[in-house]
Amino acid sequence: MRTQVGIVGAGPAGLLLSHLLHRLGIESIVLESQTRRHVEERVRAGVLEQGTVDLLDASGVGERLAREGLVHHGIELRFEGASHRIALTDLTGRSITVYGQQEVVKDLIRARLDAGGEIAFEVSDVTLSGVDSASPAIRYRHAGEARVLDCDFIAGCDGFHGVCRPSIAPGVLTEYSRSYPFAWLGILASAAPTSPELIYAHHERGFALYSMRSPKVTRLYLQCAPDEDLARWSDERIWSELHARLETSDGWRLAEGPILQRGVTPMRSFVAEPMRVGRLFLAGDAAHIVPPTGAKGLNLAVNDVRILADALASWYAGRKGAIDDYSPRCLKRVWRAEHFSWWMTSMLHRFDHGDPFHQKLQLAQLDYVTRSKAAAASLAENYVGLPFDYGEAP
Ligand code: FAD
Ligand code: PHB
Repeated sequence: MRTQVGIVGAGPAGLLLSHLLHRLGIESIVLESQTRRHVEERVRAGVLEQGTVDLLDASGVGERLAREGLVHHGIELRFEGASHRIALTDLTGRSITVYGQQEVVKDLIRARLDAGGEIAFEVSDVTLSGVDSASPAIRYRHAGEARVLDCDFIAGCDGFHGVCRPSIAPGVLTEYSRSYPFAWLGILASAAPTSPELIYAHHERGFALYSMRSPKVTRLYLQCAPDEDLARWSDERIWSELHARLETSDGWRLAEGPILQRGVTPMRSFVAEPMRVGRLFLAGDAAHIVPPTGAKGLNLAVNDVRILADALASWYAGRKGAIDDYSPRCLKRVWRAEHFSWWMTSMLHRFDHGDPFHQKLQLAQLDYVTRSKAAAASLAENYVGLPFDYGEAP
């Protein structure tokens, strides 16, 4: 088999890349190790930057998003028992949209299949070869058969634990990473949201986040131990911890409901440079990870493949140097998001068993970003997403 771009991974990065390439007249095949149902039901990110929404819309996959996405114009920061609003739209002119990542994935899979695109689910034993040559190939097994996909380029969109990044020879990539001494316990609950906006809560018992998916479904997170055992968290314990960390003295209350899904998300910062080696491009979580406190992971993946689709279109149009710019163009925004996500994480979580000095610094910073218009505007412009041309040559 042969295609122009072989894409490993049907997460948001791989699917959107395939969709954008199709619109540019470039063929691709997506290989995914999981079932379609699995990728469509995996609960992950929920906040789309305005640029992400605009791109999905402009590329023809924004119809359900426009109907069902919840447009938000602010977020709340809660600390010392009081709530402070960051007026995102007043400060930046831009907004965010709450729409589950798995809904984006469903919309993209539907669009690819409707356009006759090929996505092979449940592939195994994926290996890459020839990425330093002009004829790379992907070997894999599908439906019991060994197959070879010859391509012009390979896009490694297979997430942090995928095979593409580890297939690059040792010493070629420089990896930067940081792990955090906590994780997030996330739940999805069948309960109507009682706050119209997301709430990021700094609390002496640990961070908590109040989010949502629809007018009937709430998404909630609690800071927990990195090796947290979910079996130790009864529904009662989860709700009691959420009440303690999120509720304020002004009478705001969280609504409880049946827990539909629960899981523990590790917290990590990671960047591999460069994001292109020969004919292999890394995109999304395969190349970089941010802790979710800044809501940036999915949005970065979208930006990478936007730039990659552009670069490949230029290459096929005869501008062969365009692919050299892929990695530096992506990394400008990646490092900005790395900083923002690390900064939000550092400001909001409980560290060092509640070290009082660190806690005082956090509260001073929270006080500043909610009092100073300049500081609030800086948080807001990062949160809603910097413009796509951020970091581009003037
Ligand atoms: P992924 O979504 O990871 O997609 C990679 C795909 O590649 C997967 O479908 C995987 O099955 C497939 N794959 C892997 N290996 C192979 C292989 N060998 N062969 C073929 N296919 C393969 N961000 C937030 O902003 N908020 C959150 O709450 C949040 N929660 C998260 C929870 C978890 C458990 C994880 C892992 C991430 C979370 N993120 C969150 C980050 C966000 O979801 C990611 O940044 C986003 O999914 C990146 O998209 P991607 O397409 O690059 O990678
Ligand atoms: C979510 O709704 O899942 C969500 C929202 C904001 C974040 C992370 C996750 O920072």
